[in-house]
Amino acid sequence: MTGSARSALTVLVTGGTSGIGRAVAEALSAKGCTVLATSRNPDRLSPADRIPGVSYLRLDLADPDGPDRLAAELDGLGLLESLDVLINNAGESQSGPFEELPAEAIERLFRTNVFGPVRLSQLVLPGMRARWAGRIIMVGSMLASFPLAHRSSYSAAKAALRAFATAARQELSPFGVWVSTVEPGSIATGIGLRRTKYLDEGSPYTQDVTTMLQHLDANERGGIPAAEVAATIVDAIIAPRPRGFYAVGSRAPLPFLLQRALPRELVSKIVAAQHGLKR
Ligand SMILES: NC(=O)c1ccc[n+]([C@@H]2O[C@H](COP(=O)([O-])OP(=O)(O)OC[C@H]3O[C@@H](n4cnc5c(N)ncnc54)[C@H](OP(=O)(O)O)[C@@H]3O)[C@@H](O)[C@H]2O)c1
Repeated sequence: MTGSARSALTVLVTGGTSGIGRAVAEALSAKGCTVLATSRNPDRLSPADRIPGVSYLRLDLADPDGPDRLAAELDGLGLLESLDVLINNAGESQSGPFEELPAEAIERLFRTNVFGPVRLSQLVLPGMRARWAGRIIMVGSMLASFPLAHRSSYSAAKAALRAFATAARQELSPFGVWVSTVEPGSIATGIGLRRTKYLDEGSPYTQDVTTMLQHLDANERGGIPAAEVAATIVDAIIAPRPRGFYAVGSRAPLPFLLQRALPRELVSKIVAAQHGLKR
């Protein structure tokens, strides 16, 4: 992608109404890109919710037909074949003890955080491959690299998304299509307020979950601004040959360097301890 082409990019950002997605939509729009952002309820967005110049389309990733419906809408607008960049940002944050997570909650999380982004990527790929150019960014989470107690479903979903991306990158780079994963650490977006939480009444895990959530929420409140993650995503979009993996926030790359140097079990204990859990 050349410098002049970059400013004319057409970009689709899922979950462009808040936090990281909104910040990246703002950053790319300011660079002159044509930005399409998604929301589960675009009709309910007030003028203050909307970024001037950004178009809003409907997408509910928890709906198995959501990605296909969005692709049909993009096709109708003549944009499916010409999309330059897809940023799979939208996601659900979920917590709960492994033993108690309801099957339907795990299924919804994987639909939203894994199957939906994968399907949407499949739908935009023919156009990118045909033009020998394209970028797909998967917004993962550092919890994929550092799984945490009572966040098993979320950690697993983000790890699955990263593995899809890593393998797909090998398949697609010969076609000039680059897939990257961006793993944010703690980012101050208020996502903790929207987290889905599961805990049985009288659960033996109540104290543990409460302690973990208190630390998690405090870390997120003290996290870096969403604009810093957006800047990393923009870097991955404009780099001539983007990396497969980016980590931002929570003092990255330090945790990854320690992970390489320390025994696996010790790293797991440190992650738990950072969330108030003695193991
Ligand atoms: N904040 C952090 O500390 C952090 C850390 C690591 C990873 N992440 C990841 O970064 C991404 C963005 O997080 P954020 O903190 O910016 O979250 P956020 O502020 O809660 O924004 C989430 C966005 O996703 C959309 N969304 C939620 N559920 C959806 C669904 N079922 N279908 C389609 N869209 C949906 C929301 O749009 P509508 O409500 O308008 O539909 C919203 O725009 C997520 O994938 C998250 O897992 C965040």
